[in-house]
Parts: sequence; C-alpha cells; structure tokens
Amino acid sequence: MDPASLAQLLSPQGRALLAELPPYVAEESLRVSTRLRERGVDAGLVAAALTQSRLRERARAKFGERAGRMFFTVAGLEQATRQVVAAHHARRYAGAGSRLVADLGCGLGGDTIALSELGVAVLAVEADPVTAALAEANLRELPTASVRRGDALALDLAAEGVDAVFADPARRAGGRRIFDPTAYSPPLDAVLALRARVPALGVKVAPGVPYSALPPDARAQWVSVDGDVVEAGLWFGPLAAEGPGRSALVLAGGGAHVLTEADDAGAGRPDAPARAGEVRPVGAYLYEPDGAVIRAGLVARAAELLGAGLLSEDIAYLTGDTLVATRFATAYRVLDCFPFGLKPLRAYLRARDVGVVTIKKRGTAVEPEQLRRQLGLRGTRAATIVLTRVAGRQSVLVVEPA
Ligand SMILES: C[S@@+](CC[C@H](N)C(=O)[O-])C[C@H]1O[C@@H](n2cnc3c(N)ncnc32)[C@H](O)[C@@H]1O
Repeated sequence: MDPASLAQLLSPQGRALLAELPPYVAEESLRVSTRLRERGVDAGLVAAALTQSRLRERARAKFGERAGRMFFTVAGLEQATRQVVAAHHARRYAGAGSRLVADLGCGLGGDTIALSELGVAVLAVEADPVTAALAEANLRELPTASVRRGDALALDLAAEGVDAVFADPARRAGGRRIFDPTAYSPPLDAVLALRARVPALGVKVAPGVPYSALPPDARAQWVSVDGDVVEAGLWFGPLAAEGPGRSALVLAGGGAHVLTEADDAGAGRPDAPARAGEVRPVGAYLYEPDGAVIRAGLVARAAELLGAGLLSEDIAYLTGDTLVATRFATAYRVLDCFPFGLKPLRAYLRARDVGVVTIKKRGTAVEPEQLRRQLGLRGTRAATIVLTRVAGRQSVLVVEPA
C-alpha cells in the first residue's frame, strides 16, 4: 500500500467510507465501486476501501467479528497469528505475571491484541512503516498497547521496563517462504539470545523447525487448529512452567488438548530424537495422528495412550484393536488389508461398485491423482483407501471413519 492510499484509508473520510460499505461479495464489488466513484469519491480511496473490505472478509477466519474493525495488508494477514492461538500465547504471559511484553515484529498486531485483551501491557515494535501504521489503527481501542516503529533488536528492553518478550519473526520475503532460521527477520539466533536479558521469552517459528535448532531450555509446542499445523512456539523461563521438552497443542472442536512425552521417556529434551514405537500387525482400527502430534515427535506417545502400535517403523499410522476416543488422532475402522497392486486394487473396488475413492497415503511414492486415473472407477459407491507400508511391504488398507 502506498503512503497516500494509507493516509486516505485511515482518515476520518476513509473510515466513514469503510463503515458504510456492504458486506464484501466479490460479484458485487464492481457495482459498488462504480456507484461510489459516480458519487464523487476519489478512485484511489474507493479501490483501497474495497481491498480492505475484501481482506476483512478473509480475516474473519483468523479474527472473527473483530476483523470487521481492523486494517490489513495481504502479507500482514497471511502472517498474523489467528486469535484462538494468540490467546494461548497470551495466557502464558498472564500466567507468568508479565507486566510489560515487548512484541518484537508485531505485524498487524495479532498477538498484541490477544495479550492486551488479557490485561497485559504491550510495547509493540514493527519495522515496516505501513504495517506499523495499520497496527496502530488496529490497537486504537486497546489502551494498554502502544506501537513503536523501528528495528525490534534496537529496543532497549531494560530502559523500557520490559519484563517479557514475544517475537514472531517474518518467515517470508518477496512472497517466498524462508526455511533457514538464520534468515528469519529478525534472525532466530538474535531473538533467542534475548533470553539472557529477559528470561520470559516466547518465539513463534515454522512447524518444520528441526529439533537440532531447539535450545535445550526450550519448551517447544506444535499447534494445530482443526487438523492444520499452524506453528511451533518456543517458550522459555517463566513462560515454560511445564519445563523444557516437546509437546503438541491440538485445538479442535472448541477445546484445547495437550500431549506431552511420558516422564520416563526423555520428556525434558526438546532436541531429543522422536521415540520409536512398537510395530504391530494390522488391527481392527487405524489411527492417523494429528499433524501437531507428528511434528512434536509424539507418535509413540499417542500409541501408548491409544493402546495401539505402529503399522511400520517411521510411518505415522497407528493400529489397535480397540476404539479410543481421542483428539490426538483420527480413527478409522479397518475393513480390509492386502498387498498393493494396481490390478488387484482395481478388481477389488470394481467388485464393490466403487466410483469415488478417497486416497490417503504415507510412506509410498504412489501419486493419488495418477492412481485414481489408472483405476478408472465408474461405480456408484464411495470408499477410502490408505496406501502405506505394513511390516515393510507396500499395502492397501480399506477403511471407513470410526
Ligand atoms: C510474522 S509477522 C508478525 C505477525 C504478528 N505476530 C501477528 O500476529 O500479526 C513479522 C513482522 O515482523 C516485522 N519485522 C521483521 N524484522 C523486523 C525487525 N528487525 N524489527 C521490527 N520488525 C520486524 C515484519 O515487518 C513483520 O510485520
């Protein structure tokens, strides 16, 4: 967004225009734009307001009804922490009694908002001028939050009276994802070093962060929301009340469920390799662990809780003979299991009049779309198949949701 459009959008005239726009409907936007321009509204402001209206609609998934009062950029919205997750971040600070949190690289303010809503004061720092101006607008109604434009690493934490830090370093540049933590902005090493000055440090990183990059004093928690892994949070000092180690936070069905390694199984080592599980023959049920459980290296732990075993070493499918209700995995009833082969699979599915097949896979190079074409099914029924290795052998499991 250029500075002129930004100023127009945040002016009383821009805010009034946004307030009078109808809910965003893509097919209507041309008509709305024409009507506003005919009324004499500046074309640049009309375009900026309609973009905001579109982004507010998209942002509902992350910010709920608050999105209708917020200002966004495409990149800022993509990177923003959804409120259901930010609320969990914020609870750690409130629980640790933090009085002033520095949100270093606050973006549009997703985490600052959640902290402020719990009554924690925040000094939010943002380097990008447009993002900082929008963050300021987003935080206007939250009196305990303030925004400072500048380099987060240049902030004098002691002089500001900061007693806790949160950082969500940018992991995108020029529209591309950055995988190397030393290339995050600010770099992960520099952020982690802050805990020598302020022990209450929290950092949001990519879910793919390697265990070897995790400091031994970190509580690393992978988070999924309705089945999608969204981040890993690294928590230190008083923010890691549970001590160092790895865990999974599964947010699903309106609830929060935490899975942690068993106490006697290297629980306190965030950089320890994932524990190997016991391999078992295919049982009556198949469990597909939640992505946060897999990323946290807790598949063997989930297996213990479910009274299940692994289908194959190094593959995150579990099997057992009893059905256990869990949020840490999706359960399927196993209807059949046989070695993989195109012809027998096609014959099996055709004999059962299958036309629509859902293909799940792990530990196999088979491409589901290509297989679907090769199967050439025309039946009237639906089926779910799982392609994986069973005791080292490429196999097919025919399953149904349990
Ligand atoms: C991933 S976003 C933060 C999103 C935020 N947690 C939210 O929920 O809205 C990272 C932000 O850090 C900012 N940033 C990157 N390097 C910075 C630095 N050295 N100082 C201040 N801000 C920085 C980027 O401009 C970007 O807006």
